[in-house]
Amino acid sequence: MTLTEEIAALKAREKAVILAHYYVPDEVQAIADHVGDSFYLAKAAAATDAQTIVFCGVHFMGESAKILNPARRVLMPDLSADCAMAHMADASQIEALRGQVKDLAVVCYINSTAELKCLADVCVTSSNAVAIVRSLPQKNILFIPDQNLGGFVARQVPEKTFYFSGGYCPVHACLLAEDVLAEKRAHPHAAVAVHPECTPEVRAAADFVGSTAEIVGYARGRGEGEMIVGTEPGVLWALRRQCPRMTFYPVTPQCADMKRNTLEGVRGCLESGRGEIVMDEALMRGARISLERMLALAK
Ligand code: 13P
Ligand code: SF4
Repeated sequence: MTLTEEIAALKAREKAVILAHYYVPDEVQAIADHVGDSFYLAKAAAATDAQTIVFCGVHFMGESAKILNPARRVLMPDLSADCAMAHMADASQIEALRGQVKDLAVVCYINSTAELKCLADVCVTSSNAVAIVRSLPQKNILFIPDQNLGGFVARQVPEKTFYFSGGYCPVHACLLAEDVLAEKRAHPHAAVAVHPECTPEVRAAADFVGSTAEIVGYARGRGEGEMIVGTEPGVLWALRRQCPRMTFYPVTPQCADMKRNTLEGVRGCLESGRGEIVMDEALMRGARISLERMLALAK
């Protein structure tokens, strides 16, 4: 039996569904039941009635799946796959600002620990952040942890006052505007699409800014031609399959944590049950409020 056949047999035995983010290795995306961005995968995890969810992504994604669907067993191919940005805010800063600023909503990017989600009024992802922040009644917004996504939202919601915790994605923040401009000089007819986790200078050099799913949608809308891709290059697997007449030029480095998801890891967790997300009930209850509010507001 091939590794893929073994995984299919184990998946049937365990009544499992496999969810994969666009950034995991191609061969893992290829065996997944659902591939998508953070928002799509959170909804898929919340809606599934499979007994086991194998989440190919990073730790906060597995946690969010467990919080949204606690009756399911959630397994990860490598539990050590973490998102550095998920930790880049702290409770004392949030509490201090709540004391100082009236009419404040704490808006938490889903790329965050469950502990941070407990301190938030609402969660967002990169594909729903602008609409959700705009719909909030509060005038003041503390956006944690990503200052780049927060800055992107702030520009589009000028009627609100924003505060930031100063976090960033080390993968997207590596990309410099001069890298994008050099690629653009090499391919002058290429459109530039980047993720809102990129810096303001990179976003200013782009034709389109959106989540991974929105970047795939933007490319599909173009259908042909060339595109410079300013997000983790794992998304090229979907881009090349869905837009076969286009040529893509990746400019962002890989996320090493996303690449910890391997076929061997998928087989291993299904075979032995290792890599299970186990969480404290009170922590899940606290974090569920802001995650479920996101799902309700994004409808
Ligand atoms: P999206 O999936 O919302 O595009 O976010 C990208 C990301 O960095 C996930 O970790
Ligand atoms: Fe976190 Fe950035 Fe990796 Fe996404 S790409 S998981 S935000 S470190």
